[in-house]
Amino acid sequence: MNQAKIIDGLAVSKALREEVLRRAASLKEEGITPGLAVILVGNDPASAVYVRNKVKACEQNGLFSTLDRLPVDVTEAQLIARIRELNVDPNVHGILVQLPLPRHINSHQVIEAISAEKDVDGFHVANAGALLTGLPKFRPCTPYGVMKMLKAYEIPTVGMNAVVIGRSNIVGKPMALMLLDAGATVTVCHSKTKDLSYHTLTADIVVAAVGRRNILTGGMIKPGATVIDVGMNKNEEGKLCGDVDFASVREIAGYVTPVPGGVGPMTITMLLVNTLESAERTAQIEARGSMESDLEAGKA
Ligand code: GUN
Repeated sequence: MNQAKIIDGLAVSKALREEVLRRAASLKEEGITPGLAVILVGNDPASAVYVRNKVKACEQNGLFSTLDRLPVDVTEAQLIARIRELNVDPNVHGILVQLPLPRHINSHQVIEAISAEKDVDGFHVANAGALLTGLPKFRPCTPYGVMKMLKAYEIPTVGMNAVVIGRSNIVGKPMALMLLDAGATVTVCHSKTKDLSYHTLTADIVVAAVGRRNILTGGMIKPGATVIDVGMNKNEEGKLCGDVDFASVREIAGYVTPVPGGVGPMTITMLLVNTLESAERTAQIEARGSMESDLEAGKA
């Protein structure tokens, strides 16, 4: 009986986090501590858990973080005013506003208020456009993490058929772009797709990111396919589960990610990577600035 290999997101994360810690330490020697500012609006328990995990991961990996907990009735103007303060705070290299936001706040306006230079989620139109045109600065964390997992397990993408199920700005669309950039032939399916199996049965790689339990079962995939489960759902007993029917997919797939312990840890890890790299860019700019002033002063 076939048993797919498990793609261990915790192990891939661990290696990347060790690198973050090392590079953060060398930045500290230059007097820069990479800093992430997180804003949480309201009392959604799931968002509170995600935010707590992000702050904790910063602490454990050499980054400093701040957390603004704003009341559910904060106005859009107040939220944007706080973002503008963080945009010009030299100690902050990344800004993350946890989504979803309460309905009275326009998420698009809020995301656009974040400086594109500090948009570690990669959601700002400037960063989305940079990804589309092939020169990304910040890649959205979840699909970026998926690409790192494929790489870590040496799963080929060039010339492969990839199916992304889901078309969100956070996962589906950037995932499709990254797979395309990696040489795959990409199909994007979604809730209105007429015959999902028609597409998934010929896919070498399937990424499920719709937020619906058991959207993908073993009978819907090609033997040996790689299946990446981005879903974060709860089953009847309140246990975390993904979009993929793990038990049946495992019998057919070549590789599969578990939930928990698959994509989840990678999302936070890539947030650390994006924040670290933002701080490294700041350090380079500062170093270049001081070299230029040394040149002007005739010191170099
Ligand atoms: N809500 C769910 N996923 C994310 C994410 O990756 N970033 C932000 N800011 N909010 C989210």
